[in-house]
Amino acid sequence: MPGHPSPTSMGLQFPEGFIWGAATSAYQIEGAAAIDGRGPSVWDTFAKTPGRVRNGETGDVAIDHYHRWSTDLDLIKELGLRSYRFSISWPRVVPGGSGPVNRKGLDFYRRLVDGLHARGITPMVTLYHWDTPQELQDIGGWENRDTAYRFAEYAAVLAEALGDAVPNWLTLNEPKTVVQNGYLYGSHAPGKRDEAAAYVVAHHQLLGHGLAVQAMRPHLSPQTRIGPALNLHPCYPADDTPEAQQATVLYDGYENRLYLDPILKGHYPQDVLDDVARFSPMQQHIKDGDLEVISSPVELLAVQYYCPIYVTGAGETVRKHPTSEAFWQQIYPEGMYDILTRIKKDYGDIALTITENGLPCKDVLDADGTVQDTGRIVFLRDHFAATHRAITDGVNLESYHVWSLMDNFEWQEGYDERWGLVYIDYASQQRTPKASAHWYREVIRANGL
Ligand code: FCB
Repeated sequence: MPGHPSPTSMGLQFPEGFIWGAATSAYQIEGAAAIDGRGPSVWDTFAKTPGRVRNGETGDVAIDHYHRWSTDLDLIKELGLRSYRFSISWPRVVPGGSGPVNRKGLDFYRRLVDGLHARGITPMVTLYHWDTPQELQDIGGWENRDTAYRFAEYAAVLAEALGDAVPNWLTLNEPKTVVQNGYLYGSHAPGKRDEAAAYVVAHHQLLGHGLAVQAMRPHLSPQTRIGPALNLHPCYPADDTPEAQQATVLYDGYENRLYLDPILKGHYPQDVLDDVARFSPMQQHIKDGDLEVISSPVELLAVQYYCPIYVTGAGETVRKHPTSEAFWQQIYPEGMYDILTRIKKDYGDIALTITENGLPCKDVLDADGTVQDTGRIVFLRDHFAATHRAITDGVNLESYHVWSLMDNFEWQEGYDERWGLVYIDYASQQRTPKASAHWYREVIRANGL
């Protein structure tokens, strides 16, 4: 295709055995919201509340993956992906959040993991991608410490049912987004604006992560790996004043260290704890022994990188780079290099996987049946190149999952933002691989670009 960067044009070869994949999450793709015993989640409630999601859209049908899973797996295979990261819907497996397990829900995920293996694709499973069962939310959700224990029980159910077939498990997806979007800005479920509660929610999610790790272990082989999936934002001073430098340190604490330190070092960052104490009773909720639980050994750290943050001396953020169709996303590929090398420097050589990185585009299905998403190709090419440089500099990165496999329900943006390698015609549910998917298949084939 004229004008498209050729997959081999940069002369970058990835290490042998490097694994390329793509990611999705349950509420964003499955649909079948009230089918086969699934209970409601906070996202069903939120999306059905007028004014919360663009155009009043919901995940009721989404891209109907619950029914189309088999042909979707064929598509993954055709694209050449070797790893598929998806999430399990907590209320599909435990409809009330605690109590009876829904056998039909478990069976669906069994079919999925078996179907992946049959096609030579390795499953990577996220336990929680934001769909808290509504019944748990009704008694406080993550504000209630009990939710962490319910989450661990659910994790044990999955480890027992699917542990033989899933080599890589991720506990929580982006606990920070639940804290910030769910409890500070109110733009995600459960739609609160309550900074006191937000950091209690941070602690209880982290506790849930640790309890889940412990609850799963007895059901898993020693080779099976578990880790958290964290969205990390490299933070930079907006200018060269000492004030901006200082403000950036604290900002980095809120964005990165608040989650990395307790899990990988066994303590919360003191600067953040001190600052949080001004407005949240978080510290009163940290019980003896919690940090030992939270820092239970993990073998994998899943990194999700979308954009950098620039911080002024007043602690405000400013834009320095062009944004994408997503108002919050500045495009800065070097941030990928910076965050990966920083993890190695500060947290050691834990195995890393990139579980999300991608770009929304104004994709259009052309009359000739193609989708020319050149912007996405350029974005991915530049981020792959930055990643390659990090690997060359010794970062222990083993795989890369593009967000997302297919267009899907993008939370408060509904179906308006298209993030997929595969275009979805929502009226017909027809799947069409975009130019980026064809390009990516060539990258995977060459294991380089
Ligand atoms: C991440 C989410 C994912 C998707 C992308 C665009 O924060 O984990 O579900 O919404 O952003």
